Amino acid sequence: MTPPKGSKDGGKAGIGERFQQETKYDPDNMEGHTLDRSRQPEPLKNYEAPLAIIPLPEPDLTGDPNLWRLLYSRRSRREYDAGRSMTSEKLSALLWATQGVTARYGEFLFRTAPSAGGLYPVETYLFVRAVEGIEPGIYHFRPHTFDLEFLKKGDLARDVAEAALGQTIVMAAQMTFIWTAIVERSRWKYRQRAYRYIYLDAGHIGENLYLAAGALGLGVCAIGAFFDDKANSIIGIDGLEETVIYMAAAGWPRR
Ligand SMILES: Cc1cc2nc3c(=O)[nH]c(=O)nc-3n(C[C@H](O)[C@H](O)[C@H](O)COP(=O)(O)O)c2cc1C
Repeated sequence: MTPPKGSKDGGKAGIGERFQQETKYDPDNMEGHTLDRSRQPEPLKNYEAPLAIIPLPEPDLTGDPNLWRLLYSRRSRREYDAGRSMTSEKLSALLWATQGVTARYGEFLFRTAPSAGGLYPVETYLFVRAVEGIEPGIYHFRPHTFDLEFLKKGDLARDVAEAALGQTIVMAAQMTFIWTAIVERSRWKYRQRAYRYIYLDAGHIGENLYLAAGALGLGVCAIGAFFDDKANSIIGIDGLEETVIYMAAAGWPRR
């Protein structure tokens, strides 16, 4: 992607290069680091007073799509059939594919996507535009109870598109995933290296979404280009302790 005007490019000694160097593991310098379990952040997020809690229907996981064909045909789709709506079962299946709980060992809730240290710093929010039985608005997905917390009512397509650097994909897609990271969940253990892992985690989640959407006949387009502050303000997060890291439009592709 070409960096948008106004993005800071520090050249060879820019923050990107320094970040890569300063977060290296080095066999000669693995200073001791004991974990203070009493300071481990909550692994799961719940809102105190959501507008409503929407239980999700059982995802239909009975289809038998061919993985190799899905990999072969995976493509980013940027044109959607804006007039159609999607069923909540499909939405449910996409959420399950990205962050569904597949095993429980003690306090660990293992998911469909891997996560460094099993710490799951990524939270999933949705902008729902056209899904049957689910009002348009912003939702927070809870993997542990498999439901949605309704946070903000209204057709926010224009706001979400503006946040995505004006990309109009989200105005036609039936829904848009907005992934955030609660940084301390990972930084508590991995310190500054946590930022590497957070983005790797998000990549796994994104690919799961692409493949699951393919299995359901839906399309996806990853969105890494967004105005951070605007995206954070749509969710209502501070951009420091919790910050938007990735987005993806999903829906009925036109081609
Ligand atoms: C991290 C990441 C960020 C991306 N951001 C955008 C974006 O903001 N807008 C967009 O239209 N496509 C975006 N894409 C999609 C890429 O342009 C696309 O994956 C690439 O052109 C290859 O095409 P394919 O996905 O169809 O194979 C992004 C993809 C990735 C992996």
